[in-house]
Amino acid sequence: MRVLVVGGGGREHALCWALAASPLLTKLWCAPGNPGTARVAENVPIGALDVAALVAFARDNAVDLVVPGPEAPLVAGIADAMGLAGIRCCGPSAAAARLEGSKTFTKEICDAAGIPTALWERFDNAEAAREFVRRRGAPIVVKADGLAAGKGVVVAATVAEAEAAIAEFMEQGTLGEAGASVVIEECLFGEEVSLFALCDGTTALPLGAAQDHKRVGEGDTGPNTGGMGAYSPPPALTPALEAEAMARIVRPALAELARQGTPFRGILFAGLMLTADGPKLIEFNVRFGDPEAECLLPRLQSDLLPALLAACDGELADFDLRWRPVASLCVILAARGYPGTPIRHAPIGQLAAAEAVPGALVFQAGTDRLDGQLVSSGGRVLAVTGTGADLHAAHAAAYRAVAAIAAPDLFHRRDIGWRALGR
Ligand code: AMP
Ligand code: GLY
Repeated sequence: MRVLVVGGGGREHALCWALAASPLLTKLWCAPGNPGTARVAENVPIGALDVAALVAFARDNAVDLVVPGPEAPLVAGIADAMGLAGIRCCGPSAAAARLEGSKTFTKEICDAAGIPTALWERFDNAEAAREFVRRRGAPIVVKADGLAAGKGVVVAATVAEAEAAIAEFMEQGTLGEAGASVVIEECLFGEEVSLFALCDGTTALPLGAAQDHKRVGEGDTGPNTGGMGAYSPPPALTPALEAEAMARIVRPALAELARQGTPFRGILFAGLMLTADGPKLIEFNVRFGDPEAECLLPRLQSDLLPALLAACDGELADFDLRWRPVASLCVILAARGYPGTPIRHAPIGQLAAAEAVPGALVFQAGTDRLDGQLVSSGGRVLAVTGTGADLHAAHAAAYRAVAAIAAPDLFHRRDIGWRALGR
């Protein structure tokens, strides 16, 4: 099997690492990849959004399977384009990827399928939105309707805060087109967990769950990031709650998408709030999470490659995924300045020492090579995952590996896993 992974972050390094272990693999490429993926795959200098060039590369190189990591190429139609070229692509069509690209679309799917989620209303008009917020009161959640790279959601503690968000998104246009309309939602309370499912259009198999840490600061403070760390499995999502979420949220969404003629193939990421009334959907994403993938893939015992092929071919019904009896915990090392403007070209050393820690894996996210030296090239730079018999052991392995890395201009949170580990 000749496989092309699309993307260049820690999630894609983890995907390449997992695929490289498959006995079915004969050749692995990553576009554009990074110095980490280069260790297990051949990097191809094509950007993740250059769909036409990716299709041409896949055709010219007789690629059997394309695995897109990030959402942007999926929303841009990479699965449709590969399909037209007769190449398998483990990701949803652009039509099904609207689950991530449009909050309104997701809410309409929820309503049509009776999926538990926050009560909501959509507004194109700022005055009507403000009127609604005043009527409902706070706390209340204001969301830009389009893709806003994690910056489009305000959980407002007061009506004034909600009104300020409406003005910013809809009148000052801080998010461009993404904020032209907003969804206003009831505020949900509970533990937040991410549940992943591998889908083939009609069948969904649980692909593990994780809890991430979105805020940059310890104790979950400060601005939102793409994720500063994660762990799996999250104790808050008991097997019974996971089964309930699959039955009431993931499978009905899949059935509704199929009914509408836009079946979902690929990895469905359900952001859940475990409320007093059971799991409720916060959002869907149409891909693996990052850093959740760096936690989940090391726990997977089954070969990832035939599972992704079965998802593409509509053959998941008879498939069984096995898990290693381990927990995992991933710590992100970010460049100073992140999530604002990260400093560039921070030197990174001693990765081999970190990788020598038993149970530790180092995935590269935002790295580059400059005159032979490994340096940072983005905000999130490294994803260091520890695995162990339980979360305590995973935590110990991850932080022992982090301590071995010599990178004075990178920082990390020291409290990843605190909700589960009781600190
Ligand atoms: P989203 O981009 O929709 O995932 O929202 C980002 C974050 O905002 C989520 O991870 C939650 O922490 C929070 N959030 C979103 N919607 C709600 C809601 N209805 N109630 C409470 N928190 C929410
Ligand atoms: N870590 C959250 C995400 O990938 O969206």
